Amino acid sequence: MKNILVTGGAGFIGSNFIHYMLEQEEDVSLLINLDLLTYAGNLENLKDIENDTRYRFIKGDIRDKALVENLFQQYDFDTVVHFAAESHVDRSIVEPEIFLTTNIVGTQTLLDAAKRHWKLEPGNKYSREYRQGVRYLQVSTDEVYGALGKTGMFTERTPLSPNSPYSASKASADMVVRAYHETYGMPVNITRCSNNYGPYQFPEKLIPLMIHNACHDLALPVYGDGMQIRDWLHVKDHCSAIHTVLTKGKIGEVYNIGGNNEKANLEIVRLILAELGKPESLITYVKDRPGHDRRYAIDNAKITAQLGWKPLYTFEDGIHETIQWYLGHTDWVERITSGDYQNYYRNMYDKAEPLA
Ligand code: NAD
Ligand code: DAU
Repeated sequence: MKNILVTGGAGFIGSNFIHYMLEQEEDVSLLINLDLLTYAGNLENLKDIENDTRYRFIKGDIRDKALVENLFQQYDFDTVVHFAAESHVDRSIVEPEIFLTTNIVGTQTLLDAAKRHWKLEPGNKYSREYRQGVRYLQVSTDEVYGALGKTGMFTERTPLSPNSPYSASKASADMVVRAYHETYGMPVNITRCSNNYGPYQFPEKLIPLMIHNACHDLALPVYGDGMQIRDWLHVKDHCSAIHTVLTKGKIGEVYNIGGNNEKANLEIVRLILAELGKPESLITYVKDRPGHDRRYAIDNAKITAQLGWKPLYTFEDGIHETIQWYLGHTDWVERITSGDYQNYYRNMYDKAEPLA
């Protein structure tokens, strides 16, 4: 691992990953962050490393073939870690198109450029030989597996059954990555992680949204009965898992990532209120998200047994640290929530009438 292309590095997980790599991985000569800076991208997340000589930011679109091609020529990447995506399920319900172009076409554009630069005989469609040590890692999600009932867990062999436009776009991208491995022998991995929480998460997602609203004594909009279950993992544990797959993962394999931390949404919301000393009367039940997946749970046996990865955070420590991080970074939150976010919030939640 020497020259790394990270896409979407100005977002929540991507910016945590860049910090992680520059701190933990000695073998990084150059790390290029390609990010379009959509509403979700924020260079403030990377302010402390912007002068690191190993790091460079490029503003651009993963769907821009000429740009991506030029970057491969200029920087001779040997590793691609692809985070860039439209990532919010609620937005995908209102505006699916951009999810399909960014998440599917963007992935194919990156794969094509990597194939051209890494294949020893790029003009020969039968050749499956690649440069030594190159690898493309697709950051996917547990949502591609669909929803679980009261029991069971997602394994890497669970059939894909996405339910939202977001998860359908991520599942489609996974299929494209798989096809490039099967057809062209591309050296790829796919990781499928459960819900992340931690610093720098955009306050449209459950945990930072509830912290922000509670701090301002605003209603906390809980969808439906609030008993949907997610399997929470601290973002730093996700980063260490991706690093583990990059260094030890078997080429062509899919790895699920999760920390065995199933929680109902209502439990999380109550925990946030208790930690902030706010009343439960702020909880407001609103109409459910259409197509809402009831439960996710990740079986992480493959990555733990085969690659020796394990999460370091307990949920109790992680959520406490995260709440304290948001309390200590009110400027960061206010700069986001004072702009376009106001329109987003009105459009998304004014129509979500309270349940009777
Ligand atoms: P995010 O929305 O916080 O960040 C996405 C980043 O991608 C932003 O910086 C944005 O500017 C950039 N981007 C969007 N479109 C782009 C384009 N066309 N070209 C270049 N950059 C573009 O997302 P996140 O929560 O950090 O998620 C990162 C990845 O991890 C996504 O692929 C997501 O599907 C996956 N994932 C997320 C979670 C989670 O809980 N957040 C869990 C599992 C997997
Ligand atoms: O599972 C991994 C996925 O987790 C990632 O692939 C996605 O990018 C990420 O956004 C996340 O998806 P979810 O839909 O699970 O996350 P979200 O934070 O939007 O919602 C978590 C749960 O909380 C979900 O059951 C919906 C509920 N919810 C969410 C919001 C924003 C509410 O009840 N009220 C809300 O206002």
